[in-house]
Amino acid sequence: MRSKIVAGNWKMNKTYGETKKFVNELKDAVKGLKLKNTRMIIAPPFTNLQKASKKTKDTRIEVAAQNMHQAESGAYTGEISASMIKSVHVKTVILGHSERREYFGETNELLAQKVDTALKNDLEIIFCFGEVLEDRKDENHFKVVEEQIRKALFHLTSDQWKKIILAYEPVWAIGTGETASPEQAQEMHAFIRELVAERYISDVSENVSILYGGSVKPANAKEIFSQEDVDGGLIGGAALNAEDFTALIKAI
Ligand code: PGA
Repeated sequence: MRSKIVAGNWKMNKTYGETKKFVNELKDAVKGLKLKNTRMIIAPPFTNLQKASKKTKDTRIEVAAQNMHQAESGAYTGEISASMIKSVHVKTVILGHSERREYFGETNELLAQKVDTALKNDLEIIFCFGEVLEDRKDENHFKVVEEQIRKALFHLTSDQWKKIILAYEPVWAIGTGETASPEQAQEMHAFIRELVAERYISDVSENVSILYGGSVKPANAKEIFSQEDVDGGLIGGAALNAEDFTALIKAI
């Protein structure tokens, strides 16, 4: 059975002190929650990963990194490697976020390399993709999403897909307050699952969690999360506040 997942992508937010405060609040808020088959993941900036990872040890809260470099090590000033992430006991990394694609020029081809490096290092991947507004207006959204998934992930074996979580994030809905309707999300998620089913054995398509991201907040989460092929959310803005993040976990 595929997991339900609520993941908070903090982006470039929260200092060390703010991270400690958030984790303390979240630990208190989720104490006693019955989380059947549900995972909670927070993705703080690199400088706070170790602290978050230490503070959540022996809890159900998991920690993810927001990015990593495709090389194992070397002369890449300012970059962080998969083994560095692993060394602070973090087991998951977000790859392919639209902000990485847009502001840092990450292409599908580069992301395929990052995916390989992450898997080689035994990291789980939350792989993000999604169309821009123009693609949707031109009715190219299915084509764009298909290409993003094919180019970065379809060289993997069925077994490697056990380490993949998909996150559909229509770019026009990220940080804009505009969410895809539950029907739009379901339509795309069903399309993605079908795409994976055509390429792999049904085990893979049935077991892969597909998260929705883009202006999810406590007020709209329940409706989106209740769609058949939506297995949770990757949340930006609303994940920065422990109370809202807890409400999202409860919504699932
Ligand atoms: P948002 O961001 O929830 O603030 O729209 C989502 C994301 O970028 O992952």
